[in-house]
Amino acid sequence: MKGIELFSIRMRASAQGRHISGAERIIPAGDIPQVFSALYARAQSKGAPPEQIVITIENLANEGIERIPALDVATCAARDYSEARSTAAQVLESLGVSRDAVFSALQLLAKGPSSTGGVMRGAMVINAETGARLEPDQDRGIRASRFDWEPAASAAMDDALASAGLTHFRIKEALALASKAAHAPGIVAELCWSDDPDYTAGYVASSRTGYIRFPMMKPQGSAIGGRAFFVTAAGFSLAACTGYLCAQTVLINAAGRCKAPSSPAEVLAALTSTHDEDRTNRSAVAGAPQ
Ligand code: COA
Ligand code: AMP
Repeated sequence: MKGIELFSIRMRASAQGRHISGAERIIPAGDIPQVFSALYARAQSKGAPPEQIVITIENLANEGIERIPALDVATCAARDYSEARSTAAQVLESLGVSRDAVFSALQLLAKGPSSTGGVMRGAMVINAETGARLEPDQDRGIRASRFDWEPAASAAMDDALASAGLTHFRIKEALALASKAAHAPGIVAELCWSDDPDYTAGYVASSRTGYIRFPMMKPQGSAIGGRAFFVTAAGFSLAACTGYLCAQTVLINAAGRCKAPSSPAEVLAALTSTHDEDRTNRSAVAGAPQ
């Protein structure tokens, strides 16, 4: 898609003042009619008929498009949502998120992180050391936008996910969002589970661990979920981070690998070896001749 003029096309649908579905793509002009129809059909596909559908098409003028690879995908076969959350907590701690910050994020996601205890319209931004919330509006949060797959990477990711039996459309969309977030300035890790009552999966993601998926991160039927971006304590710029998440156009140009499902113990053991490798590489670079 290099050299071709690209457009951001974004859909959101609501009923009785409530958001019911949203999705977006980055596409060449020639694809607009077909993608417009697909997004329109998607807006109608939720249980409740929408009262309002907003589809925005914006010429990106090909300014400053960043290309990144997708994160690798691992599935952690935890027994139930308690084990999934406790494994996710250990992954986050291994990434330098403090126990307090992890605990408070898990509590907030479990009860509903908005100021009234419901779901937010976007993500929390949490200081990885202190656990303090940094998003200016605790009902809105921060929403990542303007990301999509390049066609070849999209097809390769579909194949990789299908070979691993991961065919739900939400996985690929969440993976794209998490891949962008892992590249955002200051984000060290992300924790998410859906607020869709029929979708129990969640994940922890970071540039160091990849995307670790937990098929059951909440009880079936629960409409409470959310997303947390953990950010560095030192030198963090909320403006730079949210500017990147919301406005920087990002195309994913390489598929991630999908690993076979593993137990919580295997996931945690694999982390130790990844972190050891990281340390060895960092000291090799530090000790390398200039
Ligand atoms: N929940 C609740 N309300 C939402 C919402 C969400 N997830 N997304 C949008 N809205 C509503 C809000 O009222 C919002 O106003 P606010 O900014 O005060 O919260 C309003 O719509 C406008 O949102 P905006 O983001 O400016 O609209 P947009 O048309 O530019 O983009 C989306 C809409 C839904 C496409 C975009 O916000 C988004 O989430 N993109 C990522 C989609 C995706 O791939 N998600 C995968 C998640 S697993
Ligand atoms: P979902 O996986 O779509 O159910 O979203 C889970 C939670 O993530 C929602 O409850 C919102 O709080 C938050 N969220 C939704 N869209 C976005 C977005 N584009 N960027 C960041 N957070 C979002």
